[in-house]
Amino acid sequence: MELRCAAHFFVLFLSFTLLLASTRADPHPLQDFCVADFGATGVVVNGFPCKPASNVTSDDFFFAGLSNEGNTSNIFGSSVTPANVLSFAGLNTLGVSMNRVDVAPGGVNPPHSHPRATELIILLKGQLLVGFVSTNNQFFSKVLNPGEMFVVPKGLIHFQYNVGKKKALAITTFDSQLPGVVIASTTLFGSTPTIPDDVLAKAFQVDQKVVTAIKSKFAN
Ligand code: GLV
Ligand code: MN
Repeated sequence: MELRCAAHFFVLFLSFTLLLASTRADPHPLQDFCVADFGATGVVVNGFPCKPASNVTSDDFFFAGLSNEGNTSNIFGSSVTPANVLSFAGLNTLGVSMNRVDVAPGGVNPPHSHPRATELIILLKGQLLVGFVSTNNQFFSKVLNPGEMFVVPKGLIHFQYNVGKKKALAITTFDSQLPGVVIASTTLFGSTPTIPDDVLAKAFQVDQKVVTAIKSKFAN
């Protein structure tokens, strides 16, 4: 009987631990800061090694990279400027990052997902249709006006589309220093080496000519 009780307790404990592990974003830091030292060598498991604290200055906690408008003259009519640990070393181990998203009228930040973060969007200028699709294939969306927000749960495919007449500007924030991005169109049709045409033709139920035509748009 006692053994059965202990087994139940163990199963409960294990489920609780797994639940916590699966809902956590980046791990909590164990020190005030750890400004990334990209030049340091050695084994790195999570994040980057820390710059010696004696060399850290206020500049390490400052980043002006989101102050300039991104160039939207591209096939999507949009631009995403990241402020993640790779561009802003002071974010290392702090579990947060941001993007600046500029979208020209009629432009789209194409369907993509972030494997390591939930995303919060705040619209600063213009009008954006934002949306994501859940794992049971339900589409959730809103048209945002300045000051309004939308949240995209971790890992789900989402996009922003400029439905206004002017340029749109949004800031997105993430609960990860490096959320990662998987852009559906370029991942499937522009990978290196490419995914075989017959796989994509079967998956999308189209002729291989259609696959070749789409691949030509995203070839590296
Ligand atoms: C928008 O979806 C972004 O990833 O910045
Ligand atoms: Mn995103």
